[in-house]
Amino acid sequence: MSNTKKTIRLFKPSFGKEEIKAIQKIFKKSWIGYGSEVKKFENAWSKYIGIKYSVGVTSCSAALHIALASKKFKKKKKVLIPAMTFTATAAAALYNDLEPIFVDINEYDLNMNFQDLKKKYTKDCVAVIPVHVGGQPCEMEKIVPWAKKKKLLVIEDCAHTAGGIYRGKMLGTWGDISCFSFEEKKMLTTGDGGMICTNNKNLAGKFRVLSFHGWNKDPWSRHKKSLSKKNLSEKHWYYQIKELGFKYNMNDLMATIGLVQLKKLNLFNLKRNNAMNKYLTEIKKCKIIKSYITTQYKNIAYWMFAVRLKKRDKLISFLKERGIATSVYWIPVPLHPLYKKFKSHIPRTKKIWKELVTLPLFTDIKPQEINYIIKNLKEFDKKYS
Ligand SMILES: Cc1ncc(COP(=O)(O)O)c(C=O)c1O
Repeated sequence: MSNTKKTIRLFKPSFGKEEIKAIQKIFKKSWIGYGSEVKKFENAWSKYIGIKYSVGVTSCSAALHIALASKKFKKKKKVLIPAMTFTATAAAALYNDLEPIFVDINEYDLNMNFQDLKKKYTKDCVAVIPVHVGGQPCEMEKIVPWAKKKKLLVIEDCAHTAGGIYRGKMLGTWGDISCFSFEEKKMLTTGDGGMICTNNKNLAGKFRVLSFHGWNKDPWSRHKKSLSKKNLSEKHWYYQIKELGFKYNMNDLMATIGLVQLKKLNLFNLKRNNAMNKYLTEIKKCKIIKSYITTQYKNIAYWMFAVRLKKRDKLISFLKERGIATSVYWIPVPLHPLYKKFKSHIPRTKKIWKELVTLPLFTDIKPQEINYIIKNLKEFDKKYS
């Protein structure tokens, strides 16, 4: 047993004094609920992504839920979802009484396989949710025009990307709706949090209503009017509830952190990409350990790094002993008991997931830490090849 004291986390958010200053300011103001900071963050986000409307929410899971809810699809209609994703992508279908159809993945990037997507399509399908796994872009240039012909709603699950540009177009602007995650491990964080974006005004209005109890009036504008002397008899407090909504709104405490983090996002992305480059260069020298992607694109914001090998469990124990955290992204969704009834032919997913190990990658990972991980990977590779 190794007695190393060194430990390297799998993920770690990056904070500086700027975030603390911003939080102090918001506490002094004594307004941490839904308010002006959320609006500022939403506008800044729209500008950064290059999209017309963004609505701040509590998580990407919430965003995915209301993305499908906004269309009120008939019960039991079907949603095409990659078999290899986080449970929230598929749960969004179940929350809406829709059925997930699991699409197999590519050998070369773990993303939704376009041929299998076409094969799995039936007339009952109403939406497709491509997930840019680890930040690696799905083949949107094929998926989007095909989906348009089939009249499918395209929801981009951007939980692993913020700022990645594919074929000259920002990820999150290819589909009808995009959903981002600001959970603590992500490219930028607000603790937990997310953003739902679209260029469609009507949809954006629905997201606002669904994310705040189904109210037809924005609570922040109600508040502002409550102190306006322009029209003293205006019933600023009035609103109506025409549909069932949720308590999914972002608050000012989250948004204030988000505004600071957003300013640093390009630097964060650059730092993670540099660490990723180091992994990719060195892993090429291994015999039995391979990278989970075979192609690396320019201008992509990579979030996660994983390796593939047959001796997965052995490597996990080997690295654990040396203080290096790992994980397995993911157990494919249809293999979980809840989803087993949605039977699907996903041979590549079933093969690949057993060979994956997620390795530490985060903004502030130090070069010595990457070197230490690589040294141990190479040692393992030599020992077992
Ligand atoms: C692909 C994917 N979609 C959605 C989510 C849900 O994000 P959140 O934790 O913000 O709800 C995650 C979380 O990691 C994810 O990996």
